[in-house]
Amino acid sequence: MILILGGTGEARQLAEELTTRDVRVVSSLAGRVARPRLPVGEVRVGGFGGPDGLAQYLRENRIEAIVDATHPFAERIGANAAKAAETTKTPLLRLARPGWRPGPRDVWHWADDLADAARQLPGLGRRVFLTSGRQGLPAFAHLDDLWFLIRCVDPPGPPLPRHHELLLARGPYEVAAERALLGRVDVLVTKDSGGAQTSAKLTAARELGKPVLVVRRPSRPDTETAETVPEAVEWVLHR
Ligand SMILES: NC(=O)c1ccc[n+]([C@@H]2O[C@H](COP(=O)([O-])OP(=O)(O)OC[C@H]3O[C@@H](n4cnc5c(N)ncnc54)[C@H](OP(=O)(O)O)[C@@H]3O)[C@@H](O)[C@H]2O)c1
Repeated sequence: MILILGGTGEARQLAEELTTRDVRVVSSLAGRVARPRLPVGEVRVGGFGGPDGLAQYLRENRIEAIVDATHPFAERIGANAAKAAETTKTPLLRLARPGWRPGPRDVWHWADDLADAARQLPGLGRRVFLTSGRQGLPAFAHLDDLWFLIRCVDPPGPPLPRHHELLLARGPYEVAAERALLGRVDVLVTKDSGGAQTSAKLTAARELGKPVLVVRRPSRPDTETAETVPEAVEWVLHR
């Protein structure tokens, strides 16, 4: 049985590819999203209880290998997976799509984390398209002089910035619609999530000449890594 730590499109694709090759997989979701897109095959939902809980799960369920296909900004589960894999001697692969890179016409500013993005933001504009996700919103809640168009999947709880409009949506997004949203703001804030599902906003910002504040990826444990689903399929089939 292969454990896929999920919550991404790549994790769902991997579950599908492995299932069609008769590899037994169980996909794990954190349970953050109210109505998640479910992968094919077996699914479990909720935290494991830290690295020890995960190690226990690996033993009890006779997991032969783990693919950590979680989002590039899901920091904690990556470290937990590395620790649990080490203690149980379970092979671990990190599946992570490459980050985005600016082209010649892009006006990008980099932030080290969400707090740094909040520090830089007032210098970049007063109307902000904030797409960095529900969990990161408290970092921007004190910016009373700015107006935010906040896009996230599920309704966020407090604290939220005083002046904002909420847009509940889930990708993939189209360039034309992103252009319309970006027409209403001075600056876009995004994490460096990478991939095609949510990159239309970057194309739209480029076309409109709008600045983008990009939050750098947090560091991850140094593990064997694949950038694409086919690479991860090969890795599993070689086990
Ligand atoms: N962060 C983002 O920007 C983002 C964006 C899109 C999707 N996601 C997905 O949303 C999930 C949660 O993200 P996060 O940033 O809150 O993660 P995180 O900070 O790395 O994880 C916090 C805790 O949530 C549990 N957890 C996380 N991913 C899990 C999984 N796939 N299966 C079971 N438990 C999981 C673990 O709890 P225990 O310690 O109790 O095991 C972990 O310690 C991830 O699976 C990720 O792929 C995150």
